[in-house]
Amino acid sequence: MKPLRKAVLPVAGLGTRFLPATKATAKEMLPVVDKPLIQYAIEEARAAGIEQFCLITGRGKTAIVEHFDVAYELEATLRARGKTEALAMLEGTRIEPGALVTVRQQEPLGLGHAIWCARAFIDEDPFAILLPDDLILSDTPCVAQLAEAYRQTGGNVVAVQEVPREEISRYGILATGETHGNLIEVRGLVEKPPPEKAPSALAIIGRYVLLPEVIGHLARFERGAGGEVQLTDAMARLIGHSPFHGLRFEGRRFDCGDKAGFLEAQIAFALKRPDLAPQVRAFLRRYC
Ligand code: G1P
Repeated sequence: MKPLRKAVLPVAGLGTRFLPATKATAKEMLPVVDKPLIQYAIEEARAAGIEQFCLITGRGKTAIVEHFDVAYELEATLRARGKTEALAMLEGTRIEPGALVTVRQQEPLGLGHAIWCARAFIDEDPFAILLPDDLILSDTPCVAQLAEAYRQTGGNVVAVQEVPREEISRYGILATGETHGNLIEVRGLVEKPPPEKAPSALAIIGRYVLLPEVIGHLARFERGAGGEVQLTDAMARLIGHSPFHGLRFEGRRFDCGDKAGFLEAQIAFALKRPDLAPQVRAFLRRYC
């Protein structure tokens, strides 16, 4: 079994749900407390032993790449002023030289197409996918939990959680087989089904560990839900050929592609911060 060392992070979306904030800024650069969404995703992947990153970008996303570069003037100024604390804040933005590559998805043809754009990076290796909109607060980073499941099963693993019936049509949904602890055998996958046709209420959350064989299926460019090339459809073709499981991960997930979810994430993450929690708790009491 090949070790998991690579991650693909699709960041080409237009972020229309956050206009006007995202008119000239990438939505992945929106901060939760004081860190951009994309940095949470990169740090989570790193904590799972990922060493190589591929961002699927598009026009107007250069700030993301800048964020993970050396900011020479800023750093020199901070050093000259002895601002060691501020310098330490930049720690998580450092990526090994050569460990971050970007690929452009020229057309918005769907998540499946975005992943296919990373085919040269993926090559013949297993890889993680992190959708930075999905922010997860957990004791063990979610990708590390998936990586462990990958080591156990040697196959594909997706993060899953139960969603309310009225939200089923927003997700990739599992048809389930046997359950072993937190691992659920995947028998089928369907992207954004209407609730009455959904095989379960178990939804894919934006964390995956996949075998490279999925690329061959994506290369068919079959259009699925919403007329887009869907990752879920290509993954469904892996079932029966390689092990495929859903992992009920430990942790709370915030949908930061949604305004209310994004605001909730701010509160939850702020309450985890010893420097902020007392103030936040106090003002929340005032508001509620
Ligand atoms: C994507 C996937 C979907 C998955 C979801 C998780 O949908 O296509 O299968 O359940 O992410 O957030 P999107 O949110 O891009 O519409």
